[in-house]
Amino acid sequence: MKRQAIAIDGPSASGKSTIARLLADRLHMDYLDTGAMYRAITLFALESGVDPENEEEVNRLLDRVEITFNDGDILVNGKVCTREIRTDEVTRAVSPVSSYKKVREKMVDQQRKIAGDRPVILDGRDIGTVVLPDALLKIFLTASPEVRAQRRLKDDKSSSTMDYQALLVSIKKRDDFDSHRAISPLRPAEDAILIDSSDMTIDQVLEKIQGLWEEKQCTL
Ligand code: DC
Repeated sequence: MKRQAIAIDGPSASGKSTIARLLADRLHMDYLDTGAMYRAITLFALESGVDPENEEEVNRLLDRVEITFNDGDILVNGKVCTREIRTDEVTRAVSPVSSYKKVREKMVDQQRKIAGDRPVILDGRDIGTVVLPDALLKIFLTASPEVRAQRRLKDDKSSSTMDYQALLVSIKKRDDFDSHRAISPLRPAEDAILIDSSDMTIDQVLEKIQGLWEEKQCTL
């Protein structure tokens, strides 16, 4: 049995969160940004003086960190950190932290609990492959690294101070790390539909996914 869920995976800055949030509004579904959760753990490690490259130390933090959501904000142990998780420092450190087995186990478990059995949209790297393999619709959203760097530059949710060239380098580095890690690497699920949004507007991507979703509903 498939579940009423849309899984949106893809590389960093491919527009997943923007699309997922707008789509959730249109389709009256709940939305969860799973990347924000890995960023929140990374922020907590940095603020606790823990080296994000040190897997054992990061693992030890897991019992002391509680991530919650409230009204569009993300909270770490009760403290709102919606903007703080988007700094360059967190962005640089998040790939190694998100590659640790124990971190992923805890996050995936929490993501499934949050999703429950309501109609949901989740975006991330492993939603279609690991978190919700039974999602009715799976999208793999990409765009060229150059387009993604341009979009990140204009993104007002980002707390980055990087210029275009630095963003491009950072995006390529994260693509490489996320796609080659041992556990749950970034890759499309076998039944995912690939959308390259390099030459598409936000509205065009929304229309496309909404159309695919409506088609899926007819097959039920
Ligand atoms: O989507 P984002 O750029 O905010 O994600 C931050 C990092 O978290 C990204 O480098 C990869 C990781 N991530 C992951 O491993 N699995 C997910 N489901 C979501 C994000």
